[in-house]
Amino acid sequence: MATTTVPLPLTPVPHSLPSQLKRIVLTGFMGAGKTTVGRHLAAALRWEFLDVDALLEERHGSSIADLFTAHGEQGFRRFESHAIARALGYRNTVIALGGGAPEILTNRLLLEQTPATAVIFLDASFPALFDRCMLQPDAAVRPNLADPVAAEARFHARLPLYRRIARITVTTEGKTPDETVANIQESLRKL
Ligand code: S3P
Repeated sequence: MATTTVPLPLTPVPHSLPSQLKRIVLTGFMGAGKTTVGRHLAAALRWEFLDVDALLEERHGSSIADLFTAHGEQGFRRFESHAIARALGYRNTVIALGGGAPEILTNRLLLEQTPATAVIFLDASFPALFDRCMLQPDAAVRPNLADPVAAEARFHARLPLYRRIARITVTTEGKTPDETVANIQESLRKL
């Protein structure tokens, strides 16, 4: 009897990731595209997406700006560290950090010591980041962007920290979110 060969369905392979990788963390300054790129990347990988700022807002029933007002930046950073520790328990998840998270040693240690975690730095120049933030509808609600001179100083102070914690750096300047996702996927394949 003749046998028929059933062709395998040509479903696209969603991703090619090192099998031990359980979460991807996006870091970078405000305006780097952590949330937008994070959503696109999670969709491409068929993973979940988690935004630490959104997690904080949900847990405290309060906006980030209100948390700053009520508890000061120090208080906000304590809440943020707890949220990051929780987020790092998730698997198959792309996690977007707040831009200031790497300033805190506890956060850097958490990121460094959580196995199966790839930290990716979304890099761009300060003018490009600032312009992007100003074009966003929530421009007025980022407390650490209110003073542009202070924000630029923070940017330069944070750069070495972003670079130190990241396994991969991709430049987002002049790139669409999908181009950045493609660059990230290419870098992940080489891990
Ligand atoms: C901050 C960045 C914000 C948010 C808070 C503080 C910072 O997150 O966590 O306003 O100090 O850079 P995004 O980077 O997502 O805007």
